[in-house]
Amino acid sequence: MRLMTLRSILIHPDPRLKTLCRPVAAVNDDIQQLADDMLQTMYAAPGIGLAAPQVGVLSRLLVMDCVKDEGATPDPMVLINPEVVWSSEEMSVYEEGCLSIPDQFADVERPVEVRVRWTGLDGAEHTEQFDGLWATCVQHEIDHLNGKLFIDYLKPLKRQMITRRMVKLKRERAREGNGA
Ligand code: NI
Repeated sequence: MRLMTLRSILIHPDPRLKTLCRPVAAVNDDIQQLADDMLQTMYAAPGIGLAAPQVGVLSRLLVMDCVKDEGATPDPMVLINPEVVWSSEEMSVYEEGCLSIPDQFADVERPVEVRVRWTGLDGAEHTEQFDGLWATCVQHEIDHLNGKLFIDYLKPLKRQMITRRMVKLKRERAREGNGA
């Protein structure tokens, strides 16, 4: 039995959230621990997805669980070195948010379906097709591994407005002594 630790989530703007993350070389104990901690941190937030750079680890790993209905069985997923291998031409718009950009939401257009290949915690290669909220979530999280945030899809004015709010939020949190 492994202990799980909540990790603190970085808030935008932070250079670590703008970094191209390196591939995970081996699925070892550190990676298992990171995945456990990230799932715990995601559920506690609460959120439906979390990428390693959001907890300050610049590796290509993400966790997600888009099961939101009360009482439904959770479906935690850990994707290591995920890659979109196919995207639908058809697009859809979802109102997105991000644990690194708290309480800010905006419409983002993305392919409605994607096929993703990744390495699992079992070390094996997996491929799955995602649609609906899962498709939006996995694309949003893979973007994080490439240093891209959902606000990067918005018009500059809106993006700057949100960034200014986050700078203010971080200043307030630092003043309260909660770190940043
Ligand atoms: Ni995010």
